[in-house]
Amino acid sequence: MEIIEKQLHEIKHYVFETFSHDVSGHDYEHMHRVAQLSRKIAEKEASDVHLCEVAGWVHDLIDHKLTDDVAKNKKALTNLLSKIKLSDKQIQAVIEAIDTVSFSKGVLPTSKIGQIVQDADRLDAIGAIGVARAFSFGASRGRPLYGTNGQSTIEHFDHKLFKIKDQLHTTYAKQLATERHQFLELFYQQFLKEWPDIN
Ligand code: ADP
Ligand code: NI
Repeated sequence: MEIIEKQLHEIKHYVFETFSHDVSGHDYEHMHRVAQLSRKIAEKEASDVHLCEVAGWVHDLIDHKLTDDVAKNKKALTNLLSKIKLSDKQIQAVIEAIDTVSFSKGVLPTSKIGQIVQDADRLDAIGAIGVARAFSFGASRGRPLYGTNGQSTIEHFDHKLFKIKDQLHTTYAKQLATERHQFLELFYQQFLKEWPDIN
């Protein structure tokens, strides 16, 4: 096996173990999609394709939303990346990229890799898959589908999902976002049409 393949194999195994019980839209397949999208965007942006793919795979491992011990997980991730023989510089680049990825942290990525992985992650929050994930996340937190008190999943569309298309960094991600955004709007309108006693 080629070294890059071996590295990805180890990473996938680790990610699979870590997220195997997730029901909040942050499962192995989310990491898989974000890794693939990161790779595709990196190809178009002439960025480091392999490092972007790696960062895509591991991007949620140190998210404060998903773990209660960020420092411990960061240490474990650093150990994994050094075990598979990424250089210190590469490890630093991956950690820096994924430290800034989360929407909820409200910080802008400081590197091209960070921008690419953030775009990939956000693309997975819109479109049909984005809709599916939003309601999974809502269910995992016991949130109702509809409501007007800031606690329902449908309100998350206005709070966050509709804003995503204008917050992307790369040209290719913006292209992919157009169709996904249109679908979100369509879904939202139809949802409100079907909900009883509104309008
Ligand atoms: P980020 O760190 O940018 O929020 P993640 O990949 O960690 O990105 O997770 C975002 C996913 O979780 C999206 O699919 C999003 O719709 C969903 N999500 C986050 N907060 C909420 C919420 N309050 N209601 C419904 N879905 C949510
Ligand atoms: Ni994510």
